[in-house]
Amino acid sequence: MDEYLLEIRNLKKYYPSGKNQVKALDGVNLKVKPGELVSIVGESGCGKSTLARCVIGLETRTEGEIWFHGEEISSYGKKQMRPVRKQMQMVFQSPYAAFNPRQTLGAGLREVGKFYGMKTGEIRDRISVLMSYIKMDEELLSHYPHELSGGQLQRLAIARALMVKPELLIADEPVSALDVSVQAQILNILAEIREKENMAVLFISHDLAVVEHISDWVAVMYLGKTVEEGRKEDVFSQPFHPYTDALLASRPREYPWQEKSSIMLKGELPNALNLPEGCRFWPRCLHSQAGLCDKCEPEWNQQENGHRAVCHLVETLGKTERRVS
Ligand SMILES: Nc1ncnc2c1ncn2[C@@H]1O[C@H](COP(=O)(O)OP(=O)(O)O)[C@@H](O)[C@H]1O
Ligand SMILES: [Mg+2]
Repeated sequence: MDEYLLEIRNLKKYYPSGKNQVKALDGVNLKVKPGELVSIVGESGCGKSTLARCVIGLETRTEGEIWFHGEEISSYGKKQMRPVRKQMQMVFQSPYAAFNPRQTLGAGLREVGKFYGMKTGEIRDRISVLMSYIKMDEELLSHYPHELSGGQLQRLAIARALMVKPELLIADEPVSALDVSVQAQILNILAEIREKENMAVLFISHDLAVVEHISDWVAVMYLGKTVEEGRKEDVFSQPFHPYTDALLASRPREYPWQEKSSIMLKGELPNALNLPEGCRFWPRCLHSQAGLCDKCEPEWNQQENGHRAVCHLVETLGKTERRVS
């Protein structure tokens, strides 16, 4: 158990909607080792933020278990969560919403240190270290949020989340709101900090291209469920699930002569209110087999190095039919 810092078992979160339910999470399984960078990837609406909010205790789960440091935390109240939250910090998508507009950025950082009982000297030293990590001058801390760019604010949001040296950082689309030119800079900073602090990161993105260089492990989510996971190199070089394949196909090619995948997504993301019978991906899958994929829900099909997917066709879809890259 202790091999993993975070372990999520069959996590479900249903929101009532009239007589029906929105199945925002419908069976998520995930493990994060200490110091590991795990990415969760999937289209908008597949439940990524709901997952993050359940882990951090901002939402109560409907079913399933969340283990952190060998403790089952999914039924913890606010008070029980407080020491856990110190070990588990979060960065959100919008850096503009992350700071109080009437407070200097330095005051915002110090406030977090004080909240968790750090002494004044400790706070000062930690801020110096963090500002060097994020490659920003301490002088900027006397400024107000509106005086800085989105990229600068997001770097400071990362610094603030790291004030108390968490063991796990959850970053929910931390670069999606930023210019492409700034995205790489933030990703590099995150990767460097994770090495220096030996901190695990749960990195959430709708874009597989963003996670390619930084991840150790990748989990792909589709309509509230993890559908494929594995070491980054395995998932990228030989995706098992046609959905992962389609996400990879939408990634820009590094070189023009590289062949694009023959597998593209068809149709819209179905509604989490009305899940299809059988495999939830079959209506958009170019390989779905009538009578199998639209009738029975597939089980995990595990291959080497823990690389696995929920797809009936993992064995039958030959490499030749799959993307070449
Ligand atoms: N508070 C809520 N009440 C009802 N439905 C919600 C709520 N929060 C999220 N959802 C629904 O749950 C699904 C997953 O949402 P979300 O976790 O935000 O996805 P993502 O972060 O992957 O874009 C969506 O269908 C969304 O509309
Ligand atoms: Mg989201």
